Amino acid sequence: MEENQQSRAHFGSKFGVVMAAVGSAVGLGNIWRFPYELGMNGGFAFLLVYLLCVLALGIPVMLAELIIGRRSRSNVFSSFKVLSPKGKWHYLGIAYVVAAFVISSFYFVVAGWSLEYVYQAITDQFSSRSPLELSQAFTAFSTDAFRPIFWTIIFIFLTAIVILAGVQKGIENISKVLMPILFVIIIVLCVRSVTLPNASEGLSFLFYPDFSKINSSVVLSALGQAFFSLSIGMGCLITYGSYVKKDNNLLKTSVEVSVLDTLVSVLASVAIFPAVFSLGINPAKGPELVFITLPNVFMQIPGGYVWSILFFLLLALAALTSIISLLEVITAYVSEEFKVKRRTAVFVASLLLALSSSLCSLSLGEGSVLKLFGMPLFNFFDYISAKVLMPLGGLFIAIFLGWFCSKKMVFNELSNEGQLKTRVYELFYFLLRYFVPIAILMVFINELR
Ligand code: PHE
Repeated sequence: MEENQQSRAHFGSKFGVVMAAVGSAVGLGNIWRFPYELGMNGGFAFLLVYLLCVLALGIPVMLAELIIGRRSRSNVFSSFKVLSPKGKWHYLGIAYVVAAFVISSFYFVVAGWSLEYVYQAITDQFSSRSPLELSQAFTAFSTDAFRPIFWTIIFIFLTAIVILAGVQKGIENISKVLMPILFVIIIVLCVRSVTLPNASEGLSFLFYPDFSKINSSVVLSALGQAFFSLSIGMGCLITYGSYVKKDNNLLKTSVEVSVLDTLVSVLASVAIFPAVFSLGINPAKGPELVFITLPNVFMQIPGGYVWSILFFLLLALAALTSIISLLEVITAYVSEEFKVKRRTAVFVASLLLALSSSLCSLSLGEGSVLKLFGMPLFNFFDYISAKVLMPLGGLFIAIFLGWFCSKKMVFNELSNEGQLKTRVYELFYFLLRYFVPIAILMVFINELR
């Protein structure tokens, strides 16, 4: 163990830490999931509830994960053992690895779709299709038995290459390059969208509150979306935290990551809704918003060919930096706990993921018998990740750090052994011990009633 800790990989710079964590946070959750959740749950009112969830629940849980990770310098499983050697908390660590596996399984499928759409955009396949044909083409593609799996496996391969290159050379370097590119692409797309005729209707949908739409299930959706989007509640940031150096200001990092992630979600909505309204298309579309509605939008605006390539490239790049963080959770666990080489761990994890992602993909079409609780495997994994596993995962992280670890240790990590001013320390501790657990439980109980 001692030797392992000495030689443990770490991120090289503070900028690298923020970019890697933003890379994990910014993904399909921002560009694919957030806009359709917002569209279906009342626009601005949803955004407000979402912001509250990020501020009061998201930032404290993210900080808690980074603290657990950096203090223990271990993968999710061992981190609980290091901090609570006598407790049984490490079993929970296994649940987080399982959660990473479940999320990756359906995430890889959608990531694969984004590659297919990059391909379709480059080969100019949208322009010859009517809106109805675009919708039929998406259904035919996503329910096909072979093609989505082909792209999914290519995506798994790309992810594995980054992970194999290591924490600093792979994850950190690719995030430092891709994240700034992603910001530029999204801002360009926003400018395009808001300069279309009638764009103001879309903007007022985004920024006009309709509070009558808010109920407990909207609150659960916002909470789940916040956890999913910030990559918290399943040990991802415990794993990344274990690669963060001692002089990093964890509070600052958590705030920066949360702000940037939320900004991208809002920008993605600004890039999408004004364009959707400008063409008079129904905004309350579900998961197909990005894959059916947008190609339709692109084909009707000047320069649509280029915009469509940029958009789907954005989606694929965002998905890549997120999914490497999921694969890293599994890789760190397998290689450290089973004492095998990183290469072997990546290989085994990729193989298992190729299998489970293929099943997820098949469950949408030919394999419609692949159901759990009456839902296709794909929808079940999506649902259970954001609405059950991650909020519950966040709940346990807050309880663990708030109630089962020493207050002094938390203070030392937050203040870098007393070197930083920690004015918000008491507030953080209060949120962690009382507010976060009670709020998450209340949302759950309300929903189950
Ligand atoms: N945050 C990612 C997104 O928004 C998804 C993710 C969840 C990544 C959990 C890692 C861990 O798409």
